[in-house]
Amino acid sequence: MKLVTATLAALLAGAAAQAAEAPAGALACSGCHPAASGVDAAPARLIGMKAEEIEAAMQQFRSGARAATVMDRIAKGFTDQETLAIAAWYAAQSN
Ligand code: HEC
Repeated sequence: MKLVTATLAALLAGAAAQAAEAPAGALACSGCHPAASGVDAAPARLIGMKAEEIEAAMQQFRSGARAATVMDRIAKGFTDQETLAIAAWYAAQSN
C-alpha cells in the first residue's frame, strides 16, 4: 500500500512538473497546431518534431527565408532564447 501511494505521488508530481515546465508561449502554439496524435491536419503537429527542426523553421520564418501566412509574424514575437525553450519543450513531449 505504501508503495502504491509513493508511486502515485511520484506520478502526480511528474505530471505537475511536465505541465509547469511549459515555457512562455509554448501553449499558445497548440491553438493552431494540433496537440492530439492522429490528427492529419495542417499546420503540422509540433509534438514529434525535433527541437532543431522547430528551431530552424522558426528562424526561417523570422528572416523571411521560408514563406508563411502567419508564422512569420508569430516567430518574430519570440527571442532566440524563448524559441529554443519552446522547441526543446515540444521535442520532449510525447504521445
Ligand atoms: C495562428 C495559428 C498558428 C499559431 C498560433 C502557431 N502556428 Fe506554427 N504554423 C501555422 C501555419 C498556418 C503554418 C504553416 C506556415 C504558414 O502558413 O505560416 C505553421 C507552421 C509551423 C512550423 C513548420 C512546420 C513544418 O511543417 O515544418 C513550425 C515549426 C511552427 N509552425 C511552429 C510554431 C510554434 C513553435 C508556435 C508557438 C510559438 C506556433 N507555430 C504557433 C499556424 C500557427
